[in-house]
Amino acid sequence: MKVAIGCDHGGFVLKQSVSDALVALGAEVVDFGCDSAEVSVDYPKYGEAVANAVASGACDAGVVMCGTGIGISIAANKVKGIRAAVVTNTYMAKLTKNHNNANIIALGGRVIDPDTAAKIVSEWYLADYEGGRHQRRLDMISDIEDKNFR
Ligand code: RB5
Repeated sequence: MKVAIGCDHGGFVLKQSVSDALVALGAEVVDFGCDSAEVSVDYPKYGEAVANAVASGACDAGVVMCGTGIGISIAANKVKGIRAAVVTNTYMAKLTKNHNNANIIALGGRVIDPDTAAKIVSEWYLADYEGGRHQRRLDMISDIEDKNFR
């Protein structure tokens, strides 16, 4: 599985740990930057890059990181077909795959530590989408996209 990752300066602290966890699970990681916690950058650019990689099929899934995970998740969710979920613990990580089939998770470098980020990413990566009643709800979300995206 090919996983796109991207962050701003606020999420950079998590990136190595997230990348290592994904590689340990057998994933191929594609890094869309940024490359430093010292230089302030704009999270929408990195959220869009990861989201486009996933929506186009170039990557199978993505992990985005900013200070809270919130801004970059909002940016990623502006790309059609993306279901980006902010996750702060392993329970949310599992459930957002089981129920929402989140194709991107968003983490906050000022909210969780690198070790927790690695555990969250592993839980999400290994979890399965349950389908069934959840598919009806994802179809409803797709309908909202069809009505509101150009
Ligand atoms: C950058 O200072 C910060 O606003 C950003 O990383 C993120 O937390 C936004 O949601």
